[in-house]
Amino acid sequence: MTSKLEIPCSYQGGKQRLAKQIVDIFFEENRINDSTQFYDICCGSGAISVELLNRGVKPQNIHMVDKSPWGLVWQMIGNSTFELSLFNDFVNSIPRDITKIKQYASNIISNTVDKNMLPYHFLFLQACAFGSTATWVENNKWCKAGGLRDYWLPTKTSNRKSPVNPMMPMPDNLYKRIELLCKYAEGLHGYCMDVFDFIYILDEEWDIKKNKNIIIYIDPPYQNTQQYGYSFNVYELERQIWNNAPIYISEGIKLEGSNKNYLLSQGRTKGNINGKSKKKPVEEWLNKFEYKQ
Ligand SMILES: C[S@@+](CC[C@H](N)C(=O)[O-])C[C@H]1O[C@@H](n2cnc3c(N)ncnc32)[C@H](O)[C@@H]1O
Repeated sequence: MTSKLEIPCSYQGGKQRLAKQIVDIFFEENRINDSTQFYDICCGSGAISVELLNRGVKPQNIHMVDKSPWGLVWQMIGNSTFELSLFNDFVNSIPRDITKIKQYASNIISNTVDKNMLPYHFLFLQACAFGSTATWVENNKWCKAGGLRDYWLPTKTSNRKSPVNPMMPMPDNLYKRIELLCKYAEGLHGYCMDVFDFIYILDEEWDIKKNKNIIIYIDPPYQNTQQYGYSFNVYELERQIWNNAPIYISEGIKLEGSNKNYLLSQGRTKGNINGKSKKKPVEEWLNKFEYKQ
C-alpha cells in the first residue's frame, strides 16, 4: 500500500491518538500471523482497524462492529456496496461557499432520514459535528450529541489564531479518505449491530471455524463521560464472551477483574477557542482480560 489510510473524520472517544500504542501492545503480547483475526468491537471511526490495515493486516482478517451508522459505513466499505459515485455527487452538492455549509447540514438534519443516502449523509454530518460529538439515527430522525461546527475567524483577542472550518475534513478530503478506504479496506467484515448480538458471530469463529487465533478489542462508551445513541455494561459483555482469547478493553479507569492494565495517557486538558478549559482530563487505560486455557 503506497498511501497511508486515515479514518474518515475524528470522532468523540475515537482512538486516533492512541491507536499506535494499542496496536503495539497487541503485537508485543501475542503471536500474530497471517491468520490472526482482529475483532474491533465499538469500532466507531475505525482508528484501531485503520492502524491494523496500515501495518499490513489483511482486511479479510478484520471484523468491525458498531450499532451507530459507522457500522453501516464499514460494512459497505468492506463488502463493496459503498457507492463512491453517489458519494462523489453528494460531496459535490455541498456548498463551495464555506459560510453556507452549516445551513446545508442543518437542512439534512431537520428532514427525515433518506435511507438511500444514510451512510453518505452520515459521514458529512459527522464531519460537521462540533467537538466530533456522535451522530446517529432514531425513528428515521437524525440525532446528535452536540451541535454543528461554525465557520469561525480569529479575532484580535482570541487565543486561537487559525480559522475553524465548518467541516473536518473539508469535502474533497473526506471524499479522498473514503476513496482510499474503499480501495484498500475492501474485504473487511463490517457489522451494524448491537454488541450482544455480535457475540454469536464471535462464537462462530471459535466454535465452527475452530480458530483460536483471535484478538478482541472493545472500546465502549466510557462510564459517565461520552454520549452516544447507545450504551451497554462492558463487564456484562466481557462475561458473555466465554472464549479464551485475550480481550482488551479501553476505559477511563482500571477495570475490576482485569489481569493487566496500561495507562496510555494521563488525559489532555483541552482548552476552548479562548484557551479556557471546561473539562477534567480523562485518563486512558487499556485493560486486558485473559483466561488461561
Ligand atoms: C468510544 S466510542 C468508539 C470509538 C472508536 N473506537 C474509534 O476509534 O472511533 C464507543 C462506540 O460504541 C458504540 N456503541 C455503544 N453502545 C453500543 C452497543 N450496544 N452495540 C454496539 N455499539 C455500541 C457507539 O456507537 C460508539 O461508536
